[in-house]
Amino acid sequence: MTVDWNELAAAARDAQSKAYAPYSRFHVGCALLGESGVIYKGCNVENASYGVTMCAERGAISCAVVAGEQRFTQLVLVTDAEAPESPCGACRQVLNEFAPDLSILSLGVDGTEQRWTMTDLLPAPFEFRPPVET
Ligand code: THU
Repeated sequence: MTVDWNELAAAARDAQSKAYAPYSRFHVGCALLGESGVIYKGCNVENASYGVTMCAERGAISCAVVAGEQRFTQLVLVTDAEAPESPCGACRQVLNEFAPDLSILSLGVDGTEQRWTMTDLLPAPFEFRPPVET
């Protein structure tokens, strides 16, 4: 199922307001729509050990999976940047695992928006294939 992008944008902005980003001061929020119609929110959660920071998109996926949902149709991403940002490489790989047909909308502070499909962002995802027996 799909919903109005404005509804998801409002949820993404609410998620962004919860971001924990004392190091970068770059607040990210996202809203991910499950096939059931439930919206899962995510925000970035930074850490003093920078490398263990969790992105908003992967946070939303974890929230959804633990709630029992594994298929998604739409994602809205909002950040503090002037222009729309796209999900980082790690998040693309994780989003692709559960939503290879995902439609993504990103909103910039300047009011501009950009849309992609998952395939636009990750045309050649890594797929696990069993190793050849030796
Ligand atoms: N960040 C996300 O939440 N999602 C992305 O796709 C890229 C980056 C966060 C991580 C970090 O807290 C801040 O943005 C700056 O990199």
